[in-house]
Amino acid sequence: MATEPPRAPVPTAVTAPPPAAGAERRRLEVASLSAYYGSAEIVRGVSITFRDREVTAIIGPSGCGKSTLLRCLNRMHETVPTAHVAGSVSLDGRDIYAKGVNAIEVRRHIGMVFQRPTPFPTMSIRDNVAAGLQILGRDKPSRAETDHIVEDALRRTALWDEVSNRLKDSAIGLSGGQQQRLCIARALATRPAVLLLDEPTASLDPISTQKVEELVYELRRDMTVVIVTHNMQQAARVSDRTAFMLMGELVEIAATNTLFTTPSDSRTEAYITGRFG
Ligand SMILES: Nc1ncnc2c1ncn2[C@@H]1O[C@H](COP(=O)(O)OP(=O)(O)OP(=O)(O)O)[C@@H](O)[C@H]1O
Ligand SMILES: [Mg+2]
Repeated sequence: MATEPPRAPVPTAVTAPPPAAGAERRRLEVASLSAYYGSAEIVRGVSITFRDREVTAIIGPSGCGKSTLLRCLNRMHETVPTAHVAGSVSLDGRDIYAKGVNAIEVRRHIGMVFQRPTPFPTMSIRDNVAAGLQILGRDKPSRAETDHIVEDALRRTALWDEVSNRLKDSAIGLSGGQQQRLCIARALATRPAVLLLDEPTASLDPISTQKVEELVYELRRDMTVVIVTHNMQQAARVSDRTAFMLMGELVEIAATNTLFTTPSDSRTEAYITGRFG
């Protein structure tokens, strides 16, 4: 686990403003989802609703299927040759696995950021952020519109001041923390409804970690965020609800405060108090 950074207080999730009255809360609905590599069932019958304008953290021991579950949520799982899924995942009521649904299109609405920064090495900083817009075909924004979107995404990830004078430089010249925020900016540029973050700060220094956590906190204003983390303090800082997974199953999901103080399942309690295994 990364050492804990000294930090200015990040506001706690419990004080987050509630969504507007009448706002649709059910955004991403997972029903009886199982995920396989070959015949091995890695995610086992998980049902979970990720609500609009909430951050949900997923915790659980290494190998329990957190990344696999996350990758099922935007159809990344199927990029592994032997992989397949059963059950359903719906975004605003529309099954993303239904016949005729384009996986690339799904990933534009449900963006993903991985543990290690994955900038496109041959592209400039600007083009990295704009990369997701290129698949829009006829709806592709103009160059001026693209510049505006790139600036907006870089401002949201607090990168603009650091890179605005070198947008044409290679993304490889950025630090690891900057590269990760660049990847988040790239995911944000397509204005996704949902952002999936798989241990986004695992390879970052304390300052970069804090910046990403503050960003995650901000993002809940207008999107659904799912974050996998090994860091329980991080889950407590940034999430509204936390889900605990064990051996491919969802053990429980509850308000983050509740899960960490009065979990309903003894296995969750054993895990969060370090008495696991
Ligand atoms: N491409 C793959 N092919 C076959 N098995 C895989 C593949 N990727 C993951 N697995 C297996 O699926 C199981 C769950 O892996 P997954 O990466 O989802 O766990 P995780 O909870 O994210 O773990 P960690 O906390 O270490 O990242 C593991 O047993 C792993 O070996
Ligand atoms: Mg993982």
